[in-house]
Amino acid sequence: MIRDVQEILLSKEQIQERVKELGEQITKEYAGKEPMLIGVLKGSVPFMADLIKEISVPCTIDFMAVSSYGASTQSSGIVRILKDLDSNIKNKDIIIVEDIIDTGYTLKYLIENLMSRKPASIKVCCLLDKPDRRKVALDINYRGFTIPDAFVVGYGLDYAEKYRNLPYIGILKREVYQTP
Ligand code: XMP
Ligand code: MG
Repeated sequence: MIRDVQEILLSKEQIQERVKELGEQITKEYAGKEPMLIGVLKGSVPFMADLIKEISVPCTIDFMAVSSYGASTQSSGIVRILKDLDSNIKNKDIIIVEDIIDTGYTLKYLIENLMSRKPASIKVCCLLDKPDRRKVALDINYRGFTIPDAFVVGYGLDYAEKYRNLPYIGILKREVYQTP
């Protein structure tokens, strides 16, 4: 464990096991279909990479990058597209792949934006759900873990672009992001 992490919340093994289960669930529920997984950059990259290897129906992937204005450890509700999809999603079965759902503002915006492009369906797959801070009601179809309200890093999640490469998910020490 690195110095800036206070506690390991989810080990590499726990994540692997759960991602495998999510992949199996998606495989079952999309039998006969060809879903398109849309990852939200950059946090979803390790999750997406591991998840698609556990899905055995044919599928495609694409990515979007969004940013929400505001302080770095909090979502503001105003979302902006930095990179749009490469592909057309009309009549496709979409699965949005997110690292973490916190207030829910980012996902709400994404769902509304993608819905306007007339896909056949949209479901949501998130690795982490932090329900204590939810501001908007959302349906999450595939959820890796429900976690307490703490700022977490690793397995794609960052603070100021750091720690994405940690193979586990850990709680970041407060002193790292709070100026005394
Ligand atoms: P909202 O609040 O819109 O936020 O649901 C989703 C985005 O906020 C970031 N986020 C975090 N990033 N550790 C992180 O590294 C966290 O604990 C955390 N909570 C929210 C993340 O970018 C996510 O996509
Ligand atoms: Mg994110």
